[in-house]
Amino acid sequence: MTSAPHSTRSGPHHFAPAGPLRGTIRVPGDKSISHRSIMLGALAVGETRVSGLLEGEDVMSTAAAMRAMGGTITRDAGGEWVINGVGVGGLLQPQTALDMGNSGTSTRLLMGLIASHPITASFIGDASLSKRPMGRVIEPLSQMGADFTASPGGRLPLMLRGTSPAVPITYRLPVASAQVKSAILLAGLNTPGITTVIEPIPTRDHSERMLKGFGADLTVEVEAAKNGMGGTRIIRIRGEAELKPQTIVVPGDPSSAAFFIVAALIVPGSDITIENVGLNPTRAGLIEVLRAMGGQIDELNPREVGGEPVADLRVRHSALTGITVDPAVVPSMVDEFPVLFVAAALAKGRTVTSGLDELRVKESDRLTVMRVALELAGARISETEDGLIIDGTDGEPLPGGNAQPVATHLDHRIAMSMAVAGLASHGGVSVDDTGPIATSFPTFEALLDSLGTTA
Ligand code: S3P
Repeated sequence: MTSAPHSTRSGPHHFAPAGPLRGTIRVPGDKSISHRSIMLGALAVGETRVSGLLEGEDVMSTAAAMRAMGGTITRDAGGEWVINGVGVGGLLQPQTALDMGNSGTSTRLLMGLIASHPITASFIGDASLSKRPMGRVIEPLSQMGADFTASPGGRLPLMLRGTSPAVPITYRLPVASAQVKSAILLAGLNTPGITTVIEPIPTRDHSERMLKGFGADLTVEVEAAKNGMGGTRIIRIRGEAELKPQTIVVPGDPSSAAFFIVAALIVPGSDITIENVGLNPTRAGLIEVLRAMGGQIDELNPREVGGEPVADLRVRHSALTGITVDPAVVPSMVDEFPVLFVAAALAKGRTVTSGLDELRVKESDRLTVMRVALELAGARISETEDGLIIDGTDGEPLPGGNAQPVATHLDHRIAMSMAVAGLASHGGVSVDDTGPIATSFPTFEALLDSLGTTA
């Protein structure tokens, strides 16, 4: 296999104030879709081809695990990924522990896959991942018959003994989480009968779209409309499924585009185009919120790529106004809050966010870590139990010039959000470690440079 090229440096870095961002870029492939492409490709019998795959460390953790369980996964000279699968039910016993690195998505989705196979696997991860709660997947997967020995608090390292046949369950999600939903659906793939997930609050639906695309018998019933996002969803999958290999084109990741959208909105004179951005409604909340704050974001050339809505986004510097963010949008922008907080810090007036309890269990506690980081950059901000309240500068650059670097706590999105804050500051923003950026966006710094930020 050829390894993915990237330019992210580890260690401390100072993000200096920038002149206008100008030009056209493409962000790497969607992380959620990339993980699922590899997992489903490695379960389908025959050759799946994936173009636009995100070649970040998190997705490589998934690829390594699927290889360890029998999948053949290679990158060809043209950058396309070629996957030959083992068939649903055919995963092999991995010979060593599965190292999940920093990736919660790899961990939780693979726990689901393995739960309904008669194999045993140990999961290990880095310091950030080893703090994150796994009880939310251990509980439903135990109901299906899998057996777990986890570290205290339901954390990694943990050992999973899968079972076959597993027992189909009907499970109502107690927390709005696409990872938990997906873990159960993936377990359902190799479980005889119908496994049902009831989802009161809709979350990203890539698993449903892709499982159907690979030929699984999966249905989605929507019970009642709510908040413009659709109401309770009842998702049923029939096992034991046979997956057919696919040709997949992965659209650009809206969660990666988010950093450039906010950067262009807050740096005066900016006018950029980000091509090929995935705009699945379950992912596009940030764009709506930024528009409500006055952001000029135009969708050009709307089209469909790989079964997902996609457009090119033209983003221009805008005078932003603070708003109260409706907690109903949280699932559709759950990963975008750190960078929204940066936009709010430059807006006119107050931005109030709530309903963000889940942010405390991401790669870091993103409420406390962003509150501390933005304070270091000179923003006016306070933390509540489930959100942040930010009083913006009305377009004035943040003071920046922090002597003590921002602590990123192995969290890529903290590092990139504070890089964006540095662009719109007087003194720049120093962060302690840009290494984690490579988990999701290895070309981030190179793309920033290409828009003229180092000029
Ligand atoms: C993801 C779901 C979200 C998100 C993560 C990717 C996925 O996590 O934060 O970055 O691919 O299913 P939760 O389901 O825990 O909210």
